[in-house]
Amino acid sequence: MKKILFTASECVPFIKTGGLADVIGALPGALDAEKYEVRVMIPAYTIIPEKYRSQMQTVCYFQSFFNGRDRYIGVKELVYNGVIYDFIDNEEYFGGSYPYTDYYYDIEKFCFFCKAVLSVLPSLGFRPDIIHCNDWHTGLIPVYLKTEFAGDPFYQGIKSIMTVHNLKFQGVYNAKEMSRISGLPMELFTIDKLLTYEDGNMLKGGLVYADKITTVSETYAEEIKTPDYGEGLDGIFRARWAQFRGIVNGIDDKIFDPASDELIPQNYTARTIISGKKKNKLALQRRLGLEEDADVMMIGIVSRLTEQKGMELIARVMPELMASRVQLVVLGTGDPHYENVFRSASQTYPGRLSANFTYSEELSHQIYAATDAFLMPSRFEPCGLSQLIALRYGSLPIVRETGGLKDTVLPYNEFTGEGTGFSFLFYDSAVLLEILRYALKTFYENRKGFAKLQRRAMAQDFSWAASAKIYEEMYDELIGE
Ligand code: ADP
Ligand code: GLC
Repeated sequence: MKKILFTASECVPFIKTGGLADVIGALPGALDAEKYEVRVMIPAYTIIPEKYRSQMQTVCYFQSFFNGRDRYIGVKELVYNGVIYDFIDNEEYFGGSYPYTDYYYDIEKFCFFCKAVLSVLPSLGFRPDIIHCNDWHTGLIPVYLKTEFAGDPFYQGIKSIMTVHNLKFQGVYNAKEMSRISGLPMELFTIDKLLTYEDGNMLKGGLVYADKITTVSETYAEEIKTPDYGEGLDGIFRARWAQFRGIVNGIDDKIFDPASDELIPQNYTARTIISGKKKNKLALQRRLGLEEDADVMMIGIVSRLTEQKGMELIARVMPELMASRVQLVVLGTGDPHYENVFRSASQTYPGRLSANFTYSEELSHQIYAATDAFLMPSRFEPCGLSQLIALRYGSLPIVRETGGLKDTVLPYNEFTGEGTGFSFLFYDSAVLLEILRYALKTFYENRKGFAKLQRRAMAQDFSWAASAKIYEEMYDELIGE
């Protein structure tokens, strides 16, 4: 058996702020259990729901020196759906009401986490062949492996992979401080290793020291080799192109299945989509206080409300969009500026625009199920899971052709009838408005054609099976057969 350790800052169903958690929750279980023994390590946040915390067993604990003094490191273990989850426990670092706190403290917390992940392995009696790291929170693991832990025979030969889910966040902080906190020597803080400009950069460390690097779609892998999308690290992706590739994400097709989803009022399949969606639409309109109209085109947004997601474009087209016969349902949290945009729009268009600034799994499923189209005009998008979920629920994605959106949504071609959604290339509000009008026109004037697209969207296979195979090939290549 080949042993793989996944590590990240979030994982469904324990803790989630975005798509990273979905990936870590699904990919380990999609790997061939006969060939790979998989474990997942995340922090033991005290806000993980009690129903999981109460089932965890403490399997080891000790004190270890970190950032000036001895600190408690414990491991709590839980087997869930056949996968072993190890939670790194330290209530001082992982207490609080949200997984991320202020910037400085997050740096310290995740330096601690990286070191703890490696430190606990001998006590767990688990020596992975590969540690699969995800995003900046785990960036120092490949660095520690090849430096501080390299002399210890237990760690020799352990390989590492660094996967980028979002390059925007890199874990950047004053180099001297980062060296002091992490215990990594200042010699490592040079421009070819951990340094960007004058700061230490945890993600860069991971990208330099990992044996292989990946990101979550092929198009994003190409994009981040360019200065426009590279967030200052494009040089590394170009230099390490031979060890770097994009592998598109999947979704958990058991959780996201309109035929059996218990969170939606009316289950449906591709065959029953028209009547199913009408019922879900009416129920959502009632729930959110929108005008009850089963035939109006309803567009959904389930998203972090940030610049990345193209919120600026949406804000700009709002008056023109709302001048049409349409309802808009928004679910998201994030930048207060965009919350205000949607709050004031919901006052301007009562009964037609519903804005919900909470995090709700249930409402999100109901929006995917009720809407005819799903709006996601991202400025950049490493992969995007929301549009994959929308496809599965027959809510046609209206997306910008970037990153994973480009790789997963096939634009409608009215001449051939092909397509699974609508897309546009230029990040420009006039272009977005044009494509929105085109989607509305198709909905109202060619209802049959629209329904055909919906059925095709639902039939797309975005389960993890295909991508899990590609990860397996990469693991085999690293470990050897
Ligand atoms: P990102 O990880 O960049 O935020 P993704 O599209 O990869 O974007 O993943 C977002 C995930 O989070 C999807 O599963 C989406 O449904 C979910 N999500 C985002 N905002 C909310 C919210 N306010 N309530 C419930 N689910 C949300
Ligand atoms: C990030 C990206 C998103 C991707 C997710 C999971 O949050 O913004 O595009 O789908 O990670 O890989």
